Amino acid sequence: MLQGKKILLGVTGGIAAYKCATLVRLLVKQGAEVKVIMTPDAAAFVTQQALSVLSKNKVETEFFAEDKTWNNHVHLGLWADAFVIAPCTANTLAKMAYGLCDNLLMATYLSARCKVYVAPAMDVDMLKHASTQANLKKIASYKNVIIPTEKGELASGLEGDGRMAEPETILAILEKQLKSAGKLTGKKVLITAGPTYEEIDPVRFIGNRSSGKMGIAIANEFAKQGAEVTLVLGPSKLSPEKNVNCVRVESANEMFEHCTSLFKHSDIAILAAAVADYKAADYSPKKIKKTKDNLKIKLEPTPDILATLGKQKKKQCLIGFALESENVIEYAKQKIKNKNLDFIVANSLQDEGAGFATDTNKVTIIDKKGKVFNYPLKSKEAVAKDILNFTLSYLKK
Ligand SMILES: Cc1cc2nc3c(=O)[nH]c(=O)nc-3n(C[C@H](O)[C@H](O)[C@H](O)COP(=O)(O)O)c2cc1C
Repeated sequence: MLQGKKILLGVTGGIAAYKCATLVRLLVKQGAEVKVIMTPDAAAFVTQQALSVLSKNKVETEFFAEDKTWNNHVHLGLWADAFVIAPCTANTLAKMAYGLCDNLLMATYLSARCKVYVAPAMDVDMLKHASTQANLKKIASYKNVIIPTEKGELASGLEGDGRMAEPETILAILEKQLKSAGKLTGKKVLITAGPTYEEIDPVRFIGNRSSGKMGIAIANEFAKQGAEVTLVLGPSKLSPEKNVNCVRVESANEMFEHCTSLFKHSDIAILAAAVADYKAADYSPKKIKKTKDNLKIKLEPTPDILATLGKQKKKQCLIGFALESENVIEYAKQKIKNKNLDFIVANSLQDEGAGFATDTNKVTIIDKKGKVFNYPLKSKEAVAKDILNFTLSYLKK
């Protein structure tokens, strides 16, 4: 449920800190990447080592690590998809209410751009105290999510409200909130990427220079926004993030089979793979021997995946890619019509830094009406974001 989500857990010096070991385990089990920061006082209640082993990451407490390098709180704050402070002491709560910044956890809290979830834990009278109640109200008004305390037996021996919510409850809240946070939650998206290899004999094939980077970046971006993404990936050395269902294929035929069956159940399909246009008409089961004569290999066309999906199309949004060396816009416009696309992402082999195996791309998006949207040269991750935003505004129309 939390596959690929980045969760930052802040642990403060309350007796309930022992419960955060279970919380880390649950989060990791659900596929989240977890980093933990602790206040110096938290170290009296739970060890850094235990949380480091469970989270599979270093646990930080101080502004500076032992080797004097800076534990960058700004990076930590920007890294997280969600920041959970559990348990949150009355002391840390008060600091959050007034913006104090005297430890790594507080500096990270003030720098975080993601949603902050606060699970207070303290004795019944500390919780009841007017100042604690006022602080809780104050931090809720700063758009933090307060995870309510629970009633029961407290560490002091008293009975009442103040127990930290159980780790399972915190997990359920996070799953619900992070799932509904995505702009594409509930959408099924089919994406293709990479080259295809068309076998000639057991050792030779027809391929191309596509790395799969662009399609993988798109798959990661759509999955990040809550979409259920299936990536049909040709032979590529790269892999998508864990929250993308990845089907690895080799040939255009295999890609065709998967795409035609997945498309029926998809809301959006983005075909970014560089599919071979031709394959050997006659596969040689034995290695073709070298002779002094010229060798002729008869080629036949591979199935046209984009055109087939265009014909199958009902309510789906179908997006194609066009990589051309000349007349890019003209060819792209023709492709939209011929293949019944909603829009096309075109790039030119003549643009430096665009196309295959680079980390950057320069694209032009052309819609059904022939309207042209030019984008500057960007990282493939940034281009993936542009394509996602274009898709979102297209779907809204
Ligand atoms: C044994 C013990 C248990 C404590 N449990 C809590 C607690 O559950 N909740 C709380 O708000 N403070 C508790 N405190 C007080 C905090 O540890 C103290 O306020 C500390 O300064 C909190 O620092 P921090 O918020 O930076 O982690 C406890 C203190 C001790 C000695």
